[in-house]
Amino acid sequence: MSETASEMTPQALAALLHFYAEAGVDALCEEAAIDRFEQSAEQAQSRKQRTRESGAQPSSGGGAAPSVPDRQGASPAPRLAQAEKPSAPQPARSPAPKASHLTVPGEAAFEDARALAASAKTIAELRQALEGYNGCNLRHSAKSLVFADGNPEADVMFIGEAPGRDEDLQGLPFVGRAGQLLDRMLAAIGLDRESAYITNMIFWRPPGNRTPAPHEIELCRPFIERHVTLAAPKVVVLLGNVAAKSLLGTEKGILSLRGGWMEYTAGDVSIPAMPTLHPAYLLRNPAQKRLAWADLLSLRARLDTLESN
Ligand code: URA
Repeated sequence: MSETASEMTPQALAALLHFYAEAGVDALCEEAAIDRFEQSAEQAQSRKQRTRESGAQPSSGGGAAPSVPDRQGASPAPRLAQAEKPSAPQPARSPAPKASHLTVPGEAAFEDARALAASAKTIAELRQALEGYNGCNLRHSAKSLVFADGNPEADVMFIGEAPGRDEDLQGLPFVGRAGQLLDRMLAAIGLDRESAYITNMIFWRPPGNRTPAPHEIELCRPFIERHVTLAAPKVVVLLGNVAAKSLLGTEKGILSLRGGWMEYTAGDVSIPAMPTLHPAYLLRNPAQKRLAWADLLSLRARLDTLESN
């Protein structure tokens, strides 16, 4: 049987929290609100009921270990001896929605997204349009719109997947650990946020950093396409599976796509695009950095050719 938090030593608890943080668990909250007051009132009510039925004295609660939230933030049922197990069902708690449980919007929502994106004539207008856009469910759980960083006039535009926790807090793409690695990758080939433009396929943080659902990608697609058209970079770099597969319209995985030059067509412009490994993947798989390095050299060579023409 697994230990409860109250049975663990402070050192073991600290190690467990560290493990969760390393694994990307950064929030102890549900994606759907839970009314804890109602929950504990119901639990108290059912405890009283059981006490009345068994004729026993109500417990002062003195000896029982306090319940601690599990990984999803739900309190485990109080640990009771077999004979005390309640016959009444425990109050249901609202399940956190998974991407697969989300309601997929109808075609009108995708049309609205396309019309709104197309109406933006400048990058500033596109940002403004997204600030007022309510059609993507992700904006309701995110704190900020994460639009772009860097120089919109740069020759190269990097497109990642979606903001994470740090990006959501700061409203800027790639500012967390993956972003710091991206900055080092850029620096290794003489680039920085003055000479590169950086954005994401998705403009709001997916709850718990889950992979964006297909309809979320489709709702954001018109905006990223317009973003590329308006920025008109000479080269696009697609960071990771989500950006590469959805923008290149392929089912191939990033490990087979990476390092190859392809054409990305946005509106009526076609731009050389290179898929490469996402910095977050490189943090988890440092041995793959040699592949990323080869891709970066290829990017550098391409930019040098552009500069000499
Ligand atoms: N990962 C991404 O894909 N984008 C960010 O902005 C941060 C992490």
